[in-house]
Amino acid sequence: MWAVLLLFQCSAYKEGQVSGPLCSDLCEQNNIHLGKCLSSVTEKKVYDGAWQGREVILKVNERWFMEFQELQKKTDSDLTSSFQNDVVFWVETMFGSCSQCSTLVEKLISYADSNHDEIITASEARTFVTLMYQEESFMLMALNESKHSLEFYGYCGGLYLTEKVPLIASSVYGEKWELSEVSILPDVFEPVEEISKNFGKKILEAAFSIPYVYSILNEALTLTKSLIFSTFSQEHIPSQREKFDFLYSLLDATLSLSSNPYGLVQSCDIHLGNFGITNDSVVKFIDLDFTYPFVFLRTLLKQKQCASDEDCWVGAMEDCHSSCDLNTNTCTSVVHKQDLVNICETHIPFVFRRSSFISELTGNSTTGLRKALGQLVVFCQTLSVAYSAEQLRHDILTVKEKLRIVERNFSKMS
Ligand SMILES: Nc1ncnc2c1ncn2[C@@H]1O[C@H](COP(=O)(O)OP(=O)(O)O)[C@@H](O)[C@H]1O
Ligand SMILES: [Mg+2]
Repeated sequence: MWAVLLLFQCSAYKEGQVSGPLCSDLCEQNNIHLGKCLSSVTEKKVYDGAWQGREVILKVNERWFMEFQELQKKTDSDLTSSFQNDVVFWVETMFGSCSQCSTLVEKLISYADSNHDEIITASEARTFVTLMYQEESFMLMALNESKHSLEFYGYCGGLYLTEKVPLIASSVYGEKWELSEVSILPDVFEPVEEISKNFGKKILEAAFSIPYVYSILNEALTLTKSLIFSTFSQEHIPSQREKFDFLYSLLDATLSLSSNPYGLVQSCDIHLGNFGITNDSVVKFIDLDFTYPFVFLRTLLKQKQCASDEDCWVGAMEDCHSSCDLNTNTCTSVVHKQDLVNICETHIPFVFRRSSFISELTGNSTTGLRKALGQLVVFCQTLSVAYSAEQLRHDILTVKEKLRIVERNFSKMS
């Protein structure tokens, strides 16, 4: 399959149909070497490989080919004359009419001009517009100033290259609650339950069961992943320090992505397999397929027909959902939970689930710690969706501070 995809890009390049800064390396210089296939999704091809002595990730989405065929219907002159408008239209579709949107348009146009001659040819326009319509490549280019997004090395046609990170968070911390682990929760989080009476037990059940029990149902996938996990977890067992550092950096990553100049973003597929960890312990978003600007996410939700709330979700069901307006049978555009709350409710307890920390938490002398962690989760559940970067920053810094309290209590004990 890969050979076909590659052949397609290179023959289209030779015919002058597609272009890109990496086409020469890929099709003429033979500078890009392919490693193994990494994707679990059929329509997406993800490979590791090497380029100019660097380890890289190569990606292409089959949807790109459909877009490409669609654009083949346009004449060269239509393509070049509508190019600027197409970019402006797409930026506004994604981020709304943001004050810095024109900066993003300029940045994208400079990416499109792959040979830097300040002229956008039909081939460059066709290639770039189809690439921009792929959410992941668009987001990689829009968010490339964040240290928590992957380096974007360039593209040839629909194929693009990013930095490869040495560790995936799920290979260190696991992917899902095991059933045996879920059963320890009521005890460990008893204080949470007490405090959260006001908010109803449902919140707790939602926090601890849906995301992971849902993934338990994906047995075929899970089996391979847990095998990978057991191999990795034996190689690297994270210390408490690493666990806290991972969570601080994960929260920083969430803040950093939304602190871009164009508008807040939300990840709708936030499981740990989609986060990488660099050698400097920086957490990076590695899979932006379902990471959307708020404006676009609202549009996606509003377009959905529904019979009940269960129909109202985008990406992974548990991460980005809204309610069904039964008068109009369409979904509302307000997501119930933001990344911050998803991370706080699920990833924070999950990362500590197997550690001695948890067993110490269950001891009598550690009521303070149990309370601190429990209170943190409950605090997060009281947070309402932040609609400005300032509010989000404030909320994330507060959560980090509360996590520091948990850490301080832990280090006092150990
Ligand atoms: N930048 C990266 N560095 C290291 N590994 C990566 C990177 N991108 C993806 N991978 C690996 O490839 C897998 C699949 O990539 P991803 O983009 O998450 O696609 P999907 O989850 O849709 O199959 C990831 O779970 C991870 O193991
Ligand atoms: Mg993924």
